[in-house]
Amino acid sequence: SKKITKICCIGAGYVGGPTMAVIAQKCPDVKVTVVDINEKRIAAWNDEDLGKLPVYEPGLDKVVEEARGRNLFFSTEVDKAIDEAEMIFISVNTPTKTYGKGKGMAADLKFIELCARQIARVAKDDKIVVEKSTLPVRTAQALKSILHNTGSSPAGKEGGVQFDILSNPEFLAEGTAVEDLHAPDRVLIGGDNPEAIQALVDVYAHWVPAANILTTNVWSSELSKLTANAFLAQRVSSINALSELCEKTGADVNEVARAIGTDSRIGPKFLKASVGFGGSCFQKDILNLVYIAKSYGLHEVADYWEQVILMNDHQKRRFADNIVTTLYNTVSGKKIAFLGWAFKKDTNDTRESAAIHVADYLLNEQAEIVVYDPKVTEEQIYADLDYLNTRDEKENRKLVTVVNDPYKATDEAHAIAVLTEWDEFRAYDWQRIYDLMLKPSFVFDGRAVLDREKLKNFGFEIYIIGVGSCG
Ligand code: NAI
Repeated sequence: SKKITKICCIGAGYVGGPTMAVIAQKCPDVKVTVVDINEKRIAAWNDEDLGKLPVYEPGLDKVVEEARGRNLFFSTEVDKAIDEAEMIFISVNTPTKTYGKGKGMAADLKFIELCARQIARVAKDDKIVVEKSTLPVRTAQALKSILHNTGSSPAGKEGGVQFDILSNPEFLAEGTAVEDLHAPDRVLIGGDNPEAIQALVDVYAHWVPAANILTTNVWSSELSKLTANAFLAQRVSSINALSELCEKTGADVNEVARAIGTDSRIGPKFLKASVGFGGSCFQKDILNLVYIAKSYGLHEVADYWEQVILMNDHQKRRFADNIVTTLYNTVSGKKIAFLGWAFKKDTNDTRESAAIHVADYLLNEQAEIVVYDPKVTEEQIYADLDYLNTRDEKENRKLVTVVNDPYKATDEAHAIAVLTEWDEFRAYDWQRIYDLMLKPSFVFDGRAVLDREKLKNFGFEIYIIGVGSCG
């Protein structure tokens, strides 16, 4: 098969950046150029100060340090990188549509289509085009049509350029991206041309054992990514559904999770009850799956998966609702300290974070919120709230304060809400926090991370998701 020496990746986000950094690290013989139209993002990827990379992931700074300038490059010159490369990854965003047909459900593929048209326009020789973004099943068909019909020298014609399309969805989890990329459970490659498939297998074979590289037809590969995310989210919603029943019955969801997780058919992972899943992918991909099922008339299939989202929305709402009820049915003018804003620990990503929705609910009740998150910027937190369009920007800045010190956040607070499972929360001086807070001092642990007994002994009134109030 064709030996790949130059790779281009369109999209320098949470997937494109880390994925390409690891490919470059593991394949010193391949030149990897990551391009993006977002100049600020590219500048940050090129920043001398590795603390300023646009994506925070443990260990990512080391990988970038090793490969950047050697065979890893970040650039805004999209055309040039496309022209040079034999293999082009498309790793642009595919958000839920916010307009028109399929609004609020379908994936918006306009960024993907723009990439395809750009590749078709620029390419002067044969290219392997790799779908890295998560896409609806059968998108490769559309890509093929665009690539082969819109270029300056369409395929099939004399001297026409040949495009092979592969699907290679990314299974990394944010917060453990580098670890996941270094030792993936599997790499999935879907395609119909064995030579093109082999070219991509050869790239991954630099560090991934052959047994972990799965090849399938292109439709299976596309659909497997949506399916994987649907199953993962479904596990969270399943344990969360039981968390509410645990709180009513005196069962402890963590004990239940441990008890069922020892069954090898169920397995122990991804059984942690929480205030709800977030992140840019789970909701978007399930909505997309639901939309696809509906478009084929499969209404029972669609309803089945939609329930995962409904349960997640319910979990966020009931967590917020419980705060209001517990604080004597009013939080108006009360200071509530948020510990955590990111959608999970070890990332600065806040997309669809449960914290945003819990905050919105409490702000509607006129609460005053003070946020502390170890990695999320003030600018991002306001942007997340403004994006909801629930109230104007001035109001958001009036009601929400962002601080860079957890003790400042909890000073004179009526209650603390734990929204992210950052390790450092456990290690705080909780006696000091108790002394700083108003009494009674309420803690609502939406991630079940705090030491219940210890906090009770200090005098906190503590509610733990899936356990209930104790103390
Ligand atoms: P992102 O929003 O962080 O990054 C996408 C980047 O593409 C942006 O920087 C944007 O400026 C750039 N872009 C958009 N159109 C462009 C164009 N025409 N030319 C050049 N650059 C362009 O998105 P993220 O999170 O990296 O996700 C990308 C895809 O990967 C999505 O389809 C997502 O579903 C999928 N995915 C995401 C995972 C995650 O953990 N975030 C995990 C697995 C898959």
